[in-house]
Amino acid sequence: MKVGTIPPRFPSSSLCAVRLTSLALIFLASMLFAQDAHFHNAPASSNQLKNPYAGQQAAVTAGSKLYAMNCGSCHGIKGRGTGNIPALAKGPTQSASDGEVFWFITTGSVDNGMPAWASLPEQKRWQIVTYLKSLKNTPSAPTNDSASAEVKPVKTNAAPPQPPYTDFRYEQPGKVRKITAQDLPAPYVTESASNGPQLAARPRDAWPKAPTGFSVQQYMTGLDNPRLIRTAPNGDFFLAESSSGKIKVFRGITADGKPERAETFAAGLNEPYGIAFYPPGKDPQWVYVGDTDSVLRFPYKNGDLKASGPEQHIADLPHAGGHWTRDVQFTTDSRKMFVSVGSRSNVDDPEANPEEKNRADILEFNPDGSDMRLYAYGIRNAGGGLAINPKTGELWCSVNERDGLGDNLVPDYITHVEEGGFYGWPWWYIGDHQDPRHEGKHLELKNKALVPDVLLQPHNASLEMTFYEGTQFPAEYQGDIFASQHGSWNRSVRAGYEVIRVPLHQTSRASGEYEDFVTGFVIDNRHVWGRPVGVTEARDGSLLVTDDGSNSIWRIRYTGSDSQQHERERNDTTHGRANRAANNAANRTSR
Ligand code: HEC
Repeated sequence: MKVGTIPPRFPSSSLCAVRLTSLALIFLASMLFAQDAHFHNAPASSNQLKNPYAGQQAAVTAGSKLYAMNCGSCHGIKGRGTGNIPALAKGPTQSASDGEVFWFITTGSVDNGMPAWASLPEQKRWQIVTYLKSLKNTPSAPTNDSASAEVKPVKTNAAPPQPPYTDFRYEQPGKVRKITAQDLPAPYVTESASNGPQLAARPRDAWPKAPTGFSVQQYMTGLDNPRLIRTAPNGDFFLAESSSGKIKVFRGITADGKPERAETFAAGLNEPYGIAFYPPGKDPQWVYVGDTDSVLRFPYKNGDLKASGPEQHIADLPHAGGHWTRDVQFTTDSRKMFVSVGSRSNVDDPEANPEEKNRADILEFNPDGSDMRLYAYGIRNAGGGLAINPKTGELWCSVNERDGLGDNLVPDYITHVEEGGFYGWPWWYIGDHQDPRHEGKHLELKNKALVPDVLLQPHNASLEMTFYEGTQFPAEYQGDIFASQHGSWNRSVRAGYEVIRVPLHQTSRASGEYEDFVTGFVIDNRHVWGRPVGVTEARDGSLLVTDDGSNSIWRIRYTGSDSQQHERERNDTTHGRANRAANNAANRTSR
């Protein structure tokens, strides 16, 4: 339900007001004149292609099997999308004609990580199209229905990784890593892998692993695609359940580490992800939400568990497919709002693809949605996480870099954001490395592309990040960054699937190191049972981590002793009852 939707506030003309370097202005201006494109620039003739099986149940059934075999590892169960690979059950695939989708599947978008399927017989491609179209309006299932019987891990025989690169076999809580711009291999020294994870149930002996002295509890289970989580000023936890379109609220932590209350704050949203309280400080009046296509806000005061009024539309966002998450933050002086919008494609040139307009950047607005401008650009996808350093007020971001150049390119990163800063995408990466797919282009930007502060394992899929302000963890953790790493698909041996710590050593800058903090979500190189997305600090100084693999929320706390085993047993016996009660409350929707 959308109330108060108004026309876009930034048609192209408002871009004239954008304050930017002249270069960026030229490239923006060139995009203003581009025409609306067809689905992935499909030729007009593809519209004429008729689906011989349209609507036929037998083709849906056959297509569903072909989909599971060929497409599901990347596009997820029932086309719901995984990580940064687009959903097919909704969005452009559903609005395009059958012929355009058929054309795109046949042609692929190889540079962007989508294989060409011309080798599949035509009949099978049409059956897949028929199946995809049957997914329109299918409700997202509340559980990971692929998680069934326990998987027997298969040993990975690949050679050990060459440091500073690593993979799941060597990730270990407390292990410090550092990747520098000098460590990057040449493009294409390894093939671009297609190694999306298959979700499995958590094996009986699996539990997230934290460093000695920390223990892990399961705060909540049975969620539907839990993504970003933020702590309200009063200590309540706001969770975006993106697939179900809900914002849920959890209050308190019982002695057993469970929520005391759970409610649905708002429902009917369009892939909500980012959440921000406004104005910043102790007494907010609004909750802002980053839907995939717009920024909205709800009236809010401390203690509200349900939105007390209808949503207000603040700003439209570009949204034609591709990276769909939008995070939102405010400057500490309340004057400006930042919104991160990831690219439409892996590495398309925005000058050639009008759908990249105002994407792959961090936008800045007034809190009422007016005066949009680019705050920083060439950032492929910071949609997973923006954060304000509470000590300095500086904006930071967590970024998914590009695919298709091999296992150890391009490092994801976490960095403070320079106003007007250019971070390379798509022509350059990690400073002055030219993307071979754009050889010879924009040489004048070579020395302008900034090197980010902390380079992470390539393809980690770094998502939400937060600064630790609590006192529960040992003093050396004060001010450090924690970030969730959703995990790779474009790497022959998977990496990520962990929570990392970026030490700031009580300064306002990162030294480039990061540390594995919570690991243990991978079963083998094919199967995983958990995928961290969100991370937030509870008022007691413990960390909550959302996991859209096991559809749960984990709580990491410092106990000073090695009590992990004990936590586990208690959780395994109590979680069923407590979470069922909390879920029932949360599913009673308010709107
Ligand atoms: C190795 C991972 C991978 C596999 C396997 C894969 N895809 Fe894709 N697919 C992608 C990526 C990445 C994109 C985004 C490409 C882009 O934006 O240019 C994509 C895009 C698409 C799109 C366009 C979606 C949009 O919103 O624009 C369709 C349709 C699609 N894929 C269908 C399929 C089908 C059908 C199969 C199986 C026959 C399949 N894909 C297999 C990675 C994959």
